[in-house]
This record gives sequence, structure tokens and C-alpha cells, in this order.
Amino acid sequence: MGKLGRAAAAAHRDACALVDLRRDLSEDEKLFVLTHYQESTSTTQATDGAFFTPPGLARDMRLEVVGNRILDLGAGIGHLAFACRNPWGQVNGDPARDLVCVERNPEFVRVGMKVVPEASWWCGDLLRVHRQRMRLFDTVIANPPFGAVARTDDGPGYHGARFEYHAIAVASQVARHGVFLIPQSSAPFRYSGRRAMEHDQGDTEYHRFQAGTGIALHANCGIDTSYYRDDWHHTPIATEIVTCDFTDIAVTRRRRSLATVTPITHAFAHQGSPDRAAS
Ligand SMILES: C[S@@+](CC[C@H](N)C(=O)[O-])C[C@H]1O[C@@H](n2cnc3c(N)ncnc32)[C@H](O)[C@@H]1O
Repeated sequence: MGKLGRAAAAAHRDACALVDLRRDLSEDEKLFVLTHYQESTSTTQATDGAFFTPPGLARDMRLEVVGNRILDLGAGIGHLAFACRNPWGQVNGDPARDLVCVERNPEFVRVGMKVVPEASWWCGDLLRVHRQRMRLFDTVIANPPFGAVARTDDGPGYHGARFEYHAIAVASQVARHGVFLIPQSSAPFRYSGRRAMEHDQGDTEYHRFQAGTGIALHANCGIDTSYYRDDWHHTPIATEIVTCDFTDIAVTRRRRSLATVTPITHAFAHQGSPDRAAS
């Protein structure tokens, strides 16, 4: 915790104390943990690429989520899954959302299970998710690691250095819709922090990704991520929220041709309720 200021370190300790309580947390307590738990303090795993989404931005991303069965890839302690819950669903007569979170860092999973206990939590590698037998998701939501961070595998159809593209390629195999926070330089448009939308900004690597996977990245409903510039725990880079329609013919064909699937228990140390995880 060396680099944290005194107030941030104290708030982080309070957040950890809440996580250790032997009772369920209130909504306010969950929000406190989401706001003050510091990802840089994790000791069990390298924290490369661990930058938790500010709660306000997570709530904005939720606007692009469709359907009831939601997968959060690289879930951290559950900022995006928390925003995707439908706590007033029962009042409105809506079905509860079926949330699945995949995160490789066991410490984050432990915190996440306290903050979003209604989700199924899998401690494992998001780059292997499409090799599991599971029911299709309506939406994958993710703020994945960015750029050339270490990885165990390539996403289907993409072999470059951008982790965010690998995560999206994996998502295309398991869902019909996607919502991703990615570096602005990886998006084919510029909107956040600009005076107006700038189209056709995709670079060579984006076009390589698109040609290899059949996936196009689209703009969102008008969310300017720079509005939350001061809410990150670290100095943020410029980002965009991109959306994907994975029902495109090319992507569906690739999904069908994927022959090798393994039972879910082989690749994941599963920590949620098994009956909701696979079918
Ligand atoms: C940018 S953080 C975002 C966390 C969370 N989704 C949020 O929005 O606050 C990315 C997360 O992905 C996790 N991660 C990195 N590589 C992973 C992998 N191969 N499989 C699963 N999780 C991974 C990191 O531990 C980190 O928690």
C-alpha cells in the first residue's frame, strides 16, 4: 500500500474490514467497497491491467446491456456486474438477471463475491471461456486489460498484441451482444473528450482484427468516458465504450465451427453456484 495517500489507505482498510464481516453487506457498504477498495494492493497476483471502472461509468455502460444473461469478463471485484444487477426487478415483475463473473485473481474474486453475491463467480482465465460448455449469454460486458499485457492464448481469429481485441474475440463466441471499455486508440471512432464524433479512425491493427474475426466495433448511445476522468484510482488513458453485434453471419459461422469444448470443471476453479454456471 506504499503509494497510497493516508486517506485512501484508511478507506481501503475500512473496505477490507467490511469484506471480512461475517454478514451480508448493505447497498451502501457494497458501494463503499467498490469505491475505496484499491486494486493496486493485491498481493496474490500481478495487478497488470487491473484498473477498476468508476461506479458512475459502470452505470453508464449498463445502458448498452441487453437481455438477462450477462457475462462480465475480467470482472475485478464486480464493478460492472454490480451496475448490471436489477435490484428493483422484483418490484416491477422482471426476472432477476443471471450474472456470471470471470476473474483470474482469487483475492478480487473473494471481494467480488461479497459485493455481488448474486453472481456466479469463476476464478479462471477469460481467454479460455469460449472453450467451456455453457449457454449463450445475451451480453458480455468488460473492461479488459489493455494492450500488450501477458496472455495465455489468442482469441479466435486475432493474433496481434492488443489484449482487448482478444477478449472481444472470445466474447463473440459466447454471447450475442457486447459492451466493452477499450483504449480510444483501439476504437474505430473518437468521441470521448472531443467536440464531435469522428468516424473512420480505425488503425491498421483494428482492420486486421476486423478482417480476422468478422467483428465490427460500433459507437455507443453517446457516453463520453472523459466525464469520469477524475474518478479512477490511477491516471486514466483516453477510452471509448464500443458495442458489438455478435449475431453477424461471419461471427456466427466461426462460433459454430469451434469444435473443441471441455467440461467447465477442467479449466476453472468454480466458486459460485454450479447450477447457474453451465448447461
Ligand atoms: C481493467 S480491470 C477491470 C476490472 C473490472 N471489470 C472493472 O471494470 O472494474 C481488468 C481485470 O481483468 C483481470 N484479468 C486480467 N487478465 C485476465 C485473464 N486472463 N483472465 C481473467 N481475468 C483477467 C484483472 O485481474 C483485472 O481485475
